[in-house]
Amino acid sequence: MQDTDSYLKIDLPPIASERMHRLPPYLFGKINARKLELRQQGVDVIDLGMGNPNDPTPDSIVKKLQEAATDKRNQRYSVSAGVRNLRCELARFYDRHFQVGLNADTEVIATIGSKEGFSHLCLATLGPGDVVLTPTPSFPIHIYAAVIAGANVIGVSQNEGEAQLLKNIAHTCENLFPRPKILMLNYPNNPTTMCVGTGFFKEVVALARKYGFYIIHDFAYGLTTFDQYRAPSILEVPGAKDLAVETMTLSKGYNMAGWRTGFVAGNADMIRVLASIKGYYDYGIFQAIQIASVIALREGDAFLNEQAKIYQDRRDFLCDGLNRIGWAVEKPMATMFVWARIPEKYSEEGSIAVSLKALEKAHVAISPGRGFGEDGEGFVRIALVENEQRLRQAVQQLKREFPQ
Ligand SMILES: Cc1ncc(COP(=O)(O)O)c(C=O)c1O
Repeated sequence: MQDTDSYLKIDLPPIASERMHRLPPYLFGKINARKLELRQQGVDVIDLGMGNPNDPTPDSIVKKLQEAATDKRNQRYSVSAGVRNLRCELARFYDRHFQVGLNADTEVIATIGSKEGFSHLCLATLGPGDVVLTPTPSFPIHIYAAVIAGANVIGVSQNEGEAQLLKNIAHTCENLFPRPKILMLNYPNNPTTMCVGTGFFKEVVALARKYGFYIIHDFAYGLTTFDQYRAPSILEVPGAKDLAVETMTLSKGYNMAGWRTGFVAGNADMIRVLASIKGYYDYGIFQAIQIASVIALREGDAFLNEQAKIYQDRRDFLCDGLNRIGWAVEKPMATMFVWARIPEKYSEEGSIAVSLKALEKAHVAISPGRGFGEDGEGFVRIALVENEQRLRQAVQQLKREFPQ
């Protein structure tokens, strides 16, 4: 077994730019590499590490792609901002689900997955001297997109819940110079699965007005919600479009992670600078994928619910199993993850060592909380991307290696 320290060591060749030295080693990449090594040795690893949906994209969407791919008009460069039909369909989707009106020409842009949109938006809006606030623990790109753009990132803990997070944001704004330019948000949250209500967004928008910052809200899990919970869009708050955008993706709800289709919607100035930088970098998503994505948005509402129910059932199954073997976990209201506190008996070892032991000995890949920053220590993130039989096997194997 490799030691924990080697997973935190920066190891870059001399060609790497100064900017690369501001990035920590990509912990998840290293753990993934070890998982692949084990698989090559014939080990049956149960992979609950990444939020990579394991179920198929609906047939109607795949069929549309097949049809559109044979049309030679779709084989040329497309438009960087996305074809108008796709942007209009996203506007209709927001109207139907959130009663939010969007101008498809000025307030919507298609992106190559939401991560690309998010990252280039940071590059188009941030630079040296700018400050960004990010709730911690965080999905890595919510910190490092800003770091790559040259900005400084200040973490504000979200571990104590909504009300305290609002106080942390206000307190940091009061005491920081220069004041933050952008606040990154992500609810339902990866990795913590924290969910918020519209009241939270109202207060955050009021803080943004008071302290003069913009907001980027990552809404990747907005439609993967369970039981009676419905996740609000930040754009539902009156006036939010004056200062906020929301990133959205087809990756999760429609099982289209490999297709790379996402959006940024909301504030027209932010969309405009993103469109401008993207105009330099890319020629848009393969047009046949854009056409198939229209079908997903237009006809996929029932599928979204069915897929969320699959995650909900897996959530129940996994949480009940983990609780039975002594891991006290709470059931999340949304996302495709369980954020599990490491049992006290093993918490001293730290989340990286626990995750490595889970991989090497129990043959279950999970993500160490430490990979989401120091505030994630004490937890592991388990993705609901295997069926119930595999989840049962995972729980049994964890029980064997982590006896109580
Ligand atoms: C919070 C969050 N945002 C964005 C992404 C990436 O989404 P996309 O596939 O649209 O780039 C993920 C994927 O894991 C995620 O968890």
